[in-house]
Amino acid sequence: MPHRVAVIGTGADPDNPDGDGYAMAYHHATAYENHPECDLVGCADIVPENAAAFADEFDIADENVFEEYDELLEAVEPDIVSLCVPPAIHDTIAIDCIRSGVVEAIHCEKPMADSYGGARMMTQEASRHDVQLTFNHQRRFSDAVRTAKALLDDGEIGDLERIEFAAPIGIFDYGSHSFDLCNYFNDEVPADWALGQIEYSEENVHFGAHNENQAVVLWEYENGVSGLGTSDSADDGGPTSAVECHHRLIGTRGTIELGPSGEDDEELPTLRIRRAGDEEWAAVETDDGLHSWEFIDRAIADNVRCLEADEEPELGAANALNATELIFATWESARRRGQVDLPLTIDDNPLEAMVESGDLSPVPTTEDE
Ligand SMILES: NC(=O)c1ccc[n+]([C@@H]2O[C@H](COP(=O)([O-])OP(=O)(O)OC[C@H]3O[C@@H](n4cnc5c(N)ncnc54)[C@H](O)[C@@H]3O)[C@@H](O)[C@H]2O)c1
Repeated sequence: MPHRVAVIGTGADPDNPDGDGYAMAYHHATAYENHPECDLVGCADIVPENAAAFADEFDIADENVFEEYDELLEAVEPDIVSLCVPPAIHDTIAIDCIRSGVVEAIHCEKPMADSYGGARMMTQEASRHDVQLTFNHQRRFSDAVRTAKALLDDGEIGDLERIEFAAPIGIFDYGSHSFDLCNYFNDEVPADWALGQIEYSEENVHFGAHNENQAVVLWEYENGVSGLGTSDSADDGGPTSAVECHHRLIGTRGTIELGPSGEDDEELPTLRIRRAGDEEWAAVETDDGLHSWEFIDRAIADNVRCLEADEEPELGAANALNATELIFATWESARRRGQVDLPLTIDDNPLEAMVESGDLSPVPTTEDE
């Protein structure tokens, strides 16, 4: 029997993506359509015309299209739910799905939640109810990322000493992927501490959540590997100019760069390596770049495989929580003006709290910006 799949939060228009709506549900749905063991049978969206257009596109029967997700859960009893609503309600809806008693697996969009307490609670509840909870850090399934990891694991740059990233948009929205990839390269070893600073002077809201304008964060993992993360929402220099690379892996005997950038961007390969003693970088061929919706097909296929084999998926909540801890630790460090020891014990969202208290007063953006 195929897995019965439902989507919550269909979105409006996948052909017109922007910071307010990418209609990620359409990409999830395509992945389920491409999966022989999945049958997309239901959807819910609080905007009825969004749900109707989605149902039309994916041939979902009228009686399985809902405005309220709890009605969908009761009527359709899906085995798998893809959750593609804004981050502020990921935790509430995921926990309701978990507690419904009918859902076996939830694939939720990133970032996990808009508070660290919410992210922890989802993880705990999924584990307590034995529900597979995964997050869409699909970039792990890029061949360029896999090849970089294989080079690292084969000892091509010696022992890993440091990982760096430059993120557009902010460390919450885009940075959720960035930290997740750092942790992937360092085999999910937990971090010991983080020290970060941010600039937030112009409102930078994506999918309903605040993101800083610029950030710099240093952290150290329990195995001694260190991290340097940077973000710049304007994407025109700032802290990211210190890294100029999507991810850089620095080892005792060389360096690997994924998505290097700089003045001659167009000339640069997606992946390159410079071993100790090499005068030049060597380009490494990869099947694809760093961005493709196809990675979601691979991510969902892996989730389904793990559900069937009763294995912990790579995109599982524990790994996502490791990345989320570094996001909130960076903002917490800025709030405390000091180093933050991990595990992180806060429950809230320090950036949002600083905006609400007036410690940060980002200038609102106007409608037509
Ligand atoms: N993985 C990635 O690379 C990637 C890229 C873009 C966006 N995202 C993430 O995907 C998530 C969704 O973003 P999007 O761009 O698809 O948004 P979207 O606005 O296109 O779609 C969200 C939908 O959720 C619906 N919704 C809101 N509240 C609801 C509720 N209570 N019940 C049912 N439906 C509800 C909205 O009406 C809307 O149709 C966000 O967390 C975002 O950060 C991830």
